[in-house]
Amino acid sequence: MSSVAPIERMARLSALITDTTKILTDFLAAKGIDAHSLSVDDLADFPVSPVDSKPFKARTEIIEATRELHDIALGPRESLRALAWGLSLQAIWEFKIAEAVPTSGSITFDELAAKIRERTGKGILPFKLRILLRHAMTSRVFCEPQKGQVAHIQMSRLLATNPKSKARVGFLTGDLFPAFANAVNAVKRWPGSQESNETGVNIAYDQSLPFYNFIQLDEGRAMRYSRAIESHGSSEGTEISHGVVDGYPWGELVDATVVDMGGNMGYVSVAIVQAFPKLKFVVQDTEGMRSADALASVPQSLQNRVELTIHDFFDAQPVVAEAYLFRHVFHKPGKSSYLSERTIRMLDVVMLTVTNSRERELDDWRDLFRIADPRYKFMRAWKPTKSQLWFIEAEWDP
Ligand SMILES: C[S@@+](CC[C@H](N)C(=O)[O-])C[C@H]1O[C@@H](n2cnc3c(N)ncnc32)[C@H](O)[C@@H]1O
Repeated sequence: MSSVAPIERMARLSALITDTTKILTDFLAAKGIDAHSLSVDDLADFPVSPVDSKPFKARTEIIEATRELHDIALGPRESLRALAWGLSLQAIWEFKIAEAVPTSGSITFDELAAKIRERTGKGILPFKLRILLRHAMTSRVFCEPQKGQVAHIQMSRLLATNPKSKARVGFLTGDLFPAFANAVNAVKRWPGSQESNETGVNIAYDQSLPFYNFIQLDEGRAMRYSRAIESHGSSEGTEISHGVVDGYPWGELVDATVVDMGGNMGYVSVAIVQAFPKLKFVVQDTEGMRSADALASVPQSLQNRVELTIHDFFDAQPVVAEAYLFRHVFHKPGKSSYLSERTIRMLDVVMLTVTNSRERELDDWRDLFRIADPRYKFMRAWKPTKSQLWFIEAEWDP
């Protein structure tokens, strides 16, 4: 928190918001494009990319400064009241409400309840639907254009039309909610544990498997997880193109094979081979992640260069390759802006909830390679400029 006196801080934030908004609006005006209006047919993303570095930075500052000003204006007690409300989103996913609301026009709460029953077989009283959806509307998910009528706005429609957004919400609210609710219980029940099967997931689902084994028991859940992770990989700061593709000198590995360990459905490898046609990737993951849908997700034209295989990374590695990539498998904190910090800390809590794992500092990494085997030579660690993720490079020198 800033050490500046609160009134002065508010004035500074307000001036910063004015200045940065002007940078952003001047940029958009010069390009002849408009910002989105949150209405249903409008853009789903703010039309500025990390490549436009000055306006992109201005936008980040606006988000951070408006949030801080908002929190100061709201005050600690009210801010606390506004925290931790995810129930309505869980209902929207569970009852497939976004899919039942027409893409254009509106529908009454009564008609919507009937349509949900017809489509999902699940009953919900119209008044309960109204309570949940009006709550969601305060977060700009759906709107009520006339009293008693529900319609989409951009955020709710994404839940109906964008499979990755839908999977992310489904996985977080449907699959992980019960685990979050039990994460603290797990810390209490197993105070000294770092075991991957003594977590909120184990208590919530009353089972003793580690998270990754557990989610694979259900094909739908495994697919939701994969899409949710893929969606995370296309979020700001963790985009594949600006981090893993641009951030490493892949071109120096000519005609090489790379093993993408814990590579899920191969979307990272696909993005890399599209940019570096001389590389070949073997994407390893566990059996439950190799459903027919997952196997079909690699574009036909790349199937000879991106091979999806089954391998548990705790077993001996059967493929001899020039490089081995682990992305989003190990965890390392960065020094970053409030926005990046927020994402990283959220992931930290998710990792604690599902696997009992922890973040490692840079020195921990050096030690880890040394302890694992002295033949590992720690090379370097760096963060590509437009990425929240770091590369940590070590060479195997037998
Ligand atoms: C957080 S995801 C990261 C996926 C991908 N590398 C990315 O960057 O988006 C972790 C992946 O590790 C896989 N995984 C977990 N345990 C594994 C194991 N023992 N062997 C192989 N893969 C595993 C999971 O199935 C999941 O696909």
